[in-house]
Amino acid sequence: MKTMIFPDHAAMSRYAAQMIADQVRANPASVLGLATGSTPEQTYEELVKIHREENLSFAQVTTFNLDEYWGLAGSHPASYRYYMQERLFNYIDIPLEQTHIPRGDVVDAAAECARYEELLATHGPVDLQILGIGTNAHIGFNEPGTEFGSTTHLVDLTQDTIEANSRFFSSPDDVPKQAISMGIKSIMQARQIVLMASGSSKADAVAKSIQGPVTPEVPASVLQLHPNCIFLLDEAAAAGLK
Ligand code: PGA
Repeated sequence: MKTMIFPDHAAMSRYAAQMIADQVRANPASVLGLATGSTPEQTYEELVKIHREENLSFAQVTTFNLDEYWGLAGSHPASYRYYMQERLFNYIDIPLEQTHIPRGDVVDAAAECARYEELLATHGPVDLQILGIGTNAHIGFNEPGTEFGSTTHLVDLTQDTIEANSRFFSSPDDVPKQAISMGIKSIMQARQIVLMASGSSKADAVAKSIQGPVTPEVPASVLQLHPNCIFLLDEAAAAGLK
């Protein structure tokens, strides 16, 4: 596992966007694994800029997002489908049918998880997977204790995660208590993984993931076992590293 430390979030975001752009230039039909949350917001802004200013086309790209809140339709402003439309997909030339995000508004969660795994098997493997990290070291919504062998599944969110995400909702009671998330095994199948973290609230999770034991109690520590994984960190997120 490699680590790169940047002076700030903006520099980290520019680097991540360049990595994605390089991947798409090298293979215009790339499969990208995408994440939501505050961490990759500027990365998507940079990508839109590269698309406009350098004519980078996403017309042949396929994307898979990590997760979606269970119970939210894609039209809900706090859904991850809405986030992706508003921050990236509406501003680049990717056909929407090539963008995949688990559906949070269907009746049968198990069937939705199976459908998503089948899509991944058909179009994958993911060439480049972007990840954020939770303060509890979750990746996707794989909370501490999730089996490394897990595939796409319905997750009970931890109180930590519900509180961390309540900023996107009008009240903490509105935060869904469950989500559909790609599993650890589904994530680990990507050819290359780029985990981004910024801010001091992530320092402990980052240090444990990179320098601690590999254990399901620290979900991102599994990345130590991936052959092609890089952590992009700002100085605050790297502060706990020895
Ligand atoms: P954040 O979330 O980017 O909003 O900090 C990351 C995560 O929980 O995976």
